[in-house]
Amino acid sequence: MVEICIGSDHGGFELKEKISSYLRAQAFAFQDIGTHSNDSVDYPTYALQVAHAVASGEAQRGILVCGTGLGMSIAANRVPGIRAVVVSDVFTAHLSREHNDSNVLCLGGRIIGPDLAIAIVREWIDTKFAGGRHTRRIEMFDKGVAQWSE
Ligand code: RB5
Repeated sequence: MVEICIGSDHGGFELKEKISSYLRAQAFAFQDIGTHSNDSVDYPTYALQVAHAVASGEAQRGILVCGTGLGMSIAANRVPGIRAVVVSDVFTAHLSREHNDSNVLCLGGRIIGPDLAIAIVREWIDTKFAGGRHTRRIEMFDKGVAQWSE
């Protein structure tokens, strides 16, 4: 099984290459679906491919990089079962896993530098979902629960 599926558009290409190099150096199982150059492409192509790989179980998690991370997250979150988050700091990366069980990490290649991005990726990969009350909350939106009470 591919553990991580990673993709980017042109705005995230250079940062995606740095992250791929890191994952390769750490011997993570991952699949890089492109893009493979600075040529302009449409980010939804990559967002939806990664999101479907995660939603289908082909990949355990996804990483998407565009200029801001925003377009990638909006597109990926259209796929049922995807919990994509835009992250620019390590603390948010940690909580997005611990509380939200995020399964797609979106980064902005024009927002953060490579060292911070690698630290975020590292934290996001390493942090486990806490479960408990957070499971109920995730089920509320994953299953489309319309009514609830605390
Ligand atoms: C491409 O110019 C840019 O719009 C894209 O990379 C991303 O930032 C969209 O959200």
